[in-house]
Amino acid sequence: MALRGIPLLTLLLLPLLALRLSAGDCPCSEAALCRPVRHRRDFEVFVFDVGQKTWKSYDWSQITTVAVFGKYDSELMCYAHSKGARVVLKGDVSLKDIIDPTFRASWIAQKVNLAKTQHMDGINIDIEQEVNCFSPEYEALTALVKETTERFHREIEGSQVTFDVAWSPKNIDNRCYNYTGIAGACDFLFVMSYDEQSQIWSECIAAANAPYNQTLTGYSDYIKMGISPTKLVMGIPWYGYDYTCLNLSEEDVCTIAKVPFRGAPCSDAAGRQVPYRVIMKQVNSSVSGSQWDEDQQAPYYNYKDPAGHFHQVWYDNPQSISLKAAYVKNYGLRGIGMWNANCLDYSEDALAKEQTGEMWGALKSRL
Ligand SMILES: *[C@@H]1O[C@H](CO)[C@@H](O)[C@H](O)[C@H]1NC(C)=O
Ligand SMILES: *[C@@H]1O[C@H](CO)[C@@H](O)[C@H](O)[C@H]1NC(C)=O
Ligand SMILES: *[C@@H]1O[C@H](CO)[C@@H](O)[C@H](O)[C@H]1NC(C)=O
Ligand SMILES: *[C@@H]1O[C@H](CO)[C@@H](O)[C@H](O)[C@H]1NC(C)=O
Repeated sequence: MALRGIPLLTLLLLPLLALRLSAGDCPCSEAALCRPVRHRRDFEVFVFDVGQKTWKSYDWSQITTVAVFGKYDSELMCYAHSKGARVVLKGDVSLKDIIDPTFRASWIAQKVNLAKTQHMDGINIDIEQEVNCFSPEYEALTALVKETTERFHREIEGSQVTFDVAWSPKNIDNRCYNYTGIAGACDFLFVMSYDEQSQIWSECIAAANAPYNQTLTGYSDYIKMGISPTKLVMGIPWYGYDYTCLNLSEEDVCTIAKVPFRGAPCSDAAGRQVPYRVIMKQVNSSVSGSQWDEDQQAPYYNYKDPAGHFHQVWYDNPQSISLKAAYVKNYGLRGIGMWNANCLDYSEDALAKEQTGEMWGALKSRL
């Protein structure tokens, strides 16, 4: 008998002790900070965090939700709760697996348990896999979102379940989803208004990550389908794309290598993603300096690498973001957010502080 020698009293107390531990494992300075956030916000500022400790310098006067896509950080959870902001898990799962309702149920149970143990306030479902329109995955995905929302709402009061969608509902990157079904089944959609050159069907040239008109067309298409603007949070990029030009014309047309993506002949995969803080360090020493493209309402610059090749970098700055933030306000969208908050320079450098402050400020449109 393995239990011999353990006093009976200890055995009786063990389950009680375990209970006490799971309820009393709040890592925050005050137990109240482990409680899920309950109040509903009219306007969301939805922030993706991918790790490190730069969150300490975020503009917490604006943030309502932090989606933790890096490692779990209990200090971040406590801090966010002290500011009344929700902290949510990342949800990703193979769509092949969720066709099975039993698998779905156990995946959801596991996420709810994780959220409870880590004192999180919900989940952001980020599934960017291909889905065919008449496949079992199409139905299963809508069911997953619906069942996840029901379970989270039931088990964690005030919890939030959101879903990430591409910049347009026109089956971008072969993602055929039931957009209206999914929007109705969760709290809101985070619209990833970036990587808008993931499938280039026309000329293979460098273009803006999130051109103004193209971005807005995406929202009007979501709204035309019957999705309420209050179910849409606009996601803006705090990063850009650095393309190597095969040829750079006098008119600044940068021809790029043909890198096909999901059926399209070329794509932004020919470029390299660069965070805003790197862009800001490079722009002044570039060949062109910052230029403004009137058609796309976005900034870009050209530079020459040490091997002598020209590059064109397209990005978003406070000017292009303010224009989009004005749309968010004027069309009554649910809010705004970014991929990702860690892209800025949070150092003590005076110029960096100013530029970082302006990026956070641009979320609140003054237009
Ligand atoms: C989308 O989902 C909703 C809600 O589940 C359902 O009523 C509708 O029939 C679905 N639409 C399509 C095209 O599958
Ligand atoms: C490459 O750029 C140069 C300089 O602007 C231009 O004269 C030339 O026509 C371009 N070549 C191609 C193949 O586009
Ligand atoms: C780059 O140029 C801008 C605008 O002229 C200026 O405000 C900024 O201080 C410059 N940055 C650096 C690092 O010199
Ligand atoms: C952008 O959209 C507006 C309004 O639909 C239109 O007037 C304008 O010509 C468009 N601009 C470009 C560059 O497509």
